[in-house]
Amino acid sequence: MWWIVFFGALIGPGICSREKFFGDQVFRINVRNGEEISKLIQLVNSDDFKLNVWKSPSTFGRPVDVLVPSVSLLPVKSFLKSQGLEYSVTIEDLQALLDNEDEEMRHNEGQERSGSNFNYGAYHSLDAIYHEMDSIATDFPDLARRVKIGQTFEKRPMYVLKFSTGGDKQRPAIWLNAGIHSREWISQATAIWTARKIVSDYQKDPVITSILEKVDIFLLPVANPDGYVYTHTQNRFWRKTRSLNPGSRCIGTDPNRNWNASFAGTGASDNPCSEVYHGPHANSEVEVKSVVDFIQKHGNFKCFIDLHSYSQLLMYPYGYSMKKAPDAEELDDVARQAAEALASLSGTKYQVGPTCTTVYPASGSSIDWAYDNGIKYSFTFELRDTGHYGFLLPANQIIPTAEETWLGLKTIMEHVRDNLY
Ligand SMILES: *[C@@H]1O[C@H](CO)[C@@H](O)[C@H](O)[C@H]1NC(C)=O
Ligand SMILES: [Zn+2]
Repeated sequence: MWWIVFFGALIGPGICSREKFFGDQVFRINVRNGEEISKLIQLVNSDDFKLNVWKSPSTFGRPVDVLVPSVSLLPVKSFLKSQGLEYSVTIEDLQALLDNEDEEMRHNEGQERSGSNFNYGAYHSLDAIYHEMDSIATDFPDLARRVKIGQTFEKRPMYVLKFSTGGDKQRPAIWLNAGIHSREWISQATAIWTARKIVSDYQKDPVITSILEKVDIFLLPVANPDGYVYTHTQNRFWRKTRSLNPGSRCIGTDPNRNWNASFAGTGASDNPCSEVYHGPHANSEVEVKSVVDFIQKHGNFKCFIDLHSYSQLLMYPYGYSMKKAPDAEELDDVARQAAEALASLSGTKYQVGPTCTTVYPASGSSIDWAYDNGIKYSFTFELRDTGHYGFLLPANQIIPTAEETWLGLKTIMEHVRDNLY
């Protein structure tokens, strides 16, 4: 609404000018067959309803979650009714959840400003995460280093933490990636928690200690910094990069359709307004290119793990086709062990399988590129939850999520340690 934008502009940049979602709801729509999927695709692709897809239609009968703006509630309900599609309302009052998240974040920022340590049970701005990465490197200079790997479209630095006990010796390495989709806040939060966990458990937990005796770990907690800042200042549900698309009013590319793996194939769009727009060419997004260049220059990565949310899935290649990865059996085995370890903490259930058949076809994804470029142990996590809060997972679930995910990550990293090739 114009007056919110107006007052937001008076107060200055920040949370006040962020888009509001008064009266908007999230619907979960059930699909039982191919005909219903076609109807749903028609619904989500229609410009009339201005829907924002949270969980896409797939060919395999997963329910679909969509954000329905208040003005579209009646028309969408009547469309669903006329087509005989079943649905439920998963989030009744989206703005109330957003207000709550904001309020908690501001409260925490106040506490941290007045001298408290970084609170791992809270969501943070990009600056706060970057500052904490710096603190970790300062606290553990023999183990962790903050490395700049590039600069974003909007000229922000991209930082990774390098964990190594090998000095100048170049060891085989593991890449941990998070936040490539900016609205998936639990992924960046889990990543920064994981960074602190690695340094504090080294030489206490024999598992992480022995992993670090053989391999280096590189962790990129915010793979899409411009998008992440935008979710804080403009629109909480922004997913893509913030690059301009010449000739289009729409902004951004889906950075997880932009890798050079069956680029512009199935499950990506050539429409710059789409949430899964693949970009003008592979690696067009400087955020993707920076990671690709770094990994290729290093030349000895054995594992690539990408953290997303939500859905509670652990997947391995391929996403770009139904073809079976040559290492599918081993990857499936490792993923199942990791999911079991993860569930052992508090029973959180993950589904395991190749991307294409577990969710939907997706070309140009990070782990397919990694796998096709010789990084055998490539996995995607979709973290909590299964849709009750979706992208708005309450901050009190950050630590439980990070702790259980850590058990899954350690299982994979142990396997890598024992199966270097
Ligand atoms: C993508 O990979 C192919 C080889 O599979 C290569 O020929 C091409 O140059 C790559 N494109 C980019 C943009 O890196
Ligand atoms: Zn994602």
